Amino acid sequence: MNASPTADDEKRLAAEAAAELVESGMTVGLGTGSTVAHLLPALARRGLTDLRCVATSVATEDQARSLGIPVEDFDRLQRLDIAIDGTDEVTPDGWLIKGGGGAHLREKIVAAAADRFVVIADSSKPVATFTWPIPLELFAFGLESTLVRLGDAVTLRPDMPPSPDGGLIADYRGPGREDPASLMVRLEGDPGVAAQGLFPPSLVSEIFVARGNDVERLTIG
Ligand code: A5P
Repeated sequence: MNASPTADDEKRLAAEAAAELVESGMTVGLGTGSTVAHLLPALARRGLTDLRCVATSVATEDQARSLGIPVEDFDRLQRLDIAIDGTDEVTPDGWLIKGGGGAHLREKIVAAAADRFVVIADSSKPVATFTWPIPLELFAFGLESTLVRLGDAVTLRPDMPPSPDGGLIADYRGPGREDPASLMVRLEGDPGVAAQGLFPPSLVSEIFVARGNDVERLTIG
């Protein structure tokens, strides 16, 4: 008897389905995390040519290069054909919380630059309402003053090095997650917040959720 698929099996399945969307010659944004770690070998196995890829973290860049996937700095490409990334949680209307690994600033810039942003997830990621804290990236400049303004609901993530852009990773655990649109505006309204981990449905094209041996494809925007 076959063992039932684990969360890691589901991540691989969703990632392999998304890898099929990439064609030779495309510009591609590569996300970050354990689900994307399955995307990269699936992409490498396709043997595509003339890909131009940007990575949202050093870990992704290193893994991609080790697999022969070319990665360049994100300073010359104006648009991306597609970006593929994981998520920490996703609600039925397509809101995401991202940034469990602290890469949400670059992930959001890459998602916003993509004509098609595809989210890949195992079956633990869809939730009725958010339960995760909201990851933040705070500017180092004026950090103590930002923390005072944001109050007790925000704590710096312990033992987390600064991001590649010099920001400090923190988490918001206060009220408001049932109304992500208002919370997003509130968090982004503080000048010390470089990025927050709520991704609106308007950024998301499709969500691939693996459940057991099947991949459910949800079209959002
Ligand atoms: C990285 O900062 C995150 O946004 C990840 O994309 C997200 O946490 C999903 O990670 P996993 O694929 O490891 O669950």
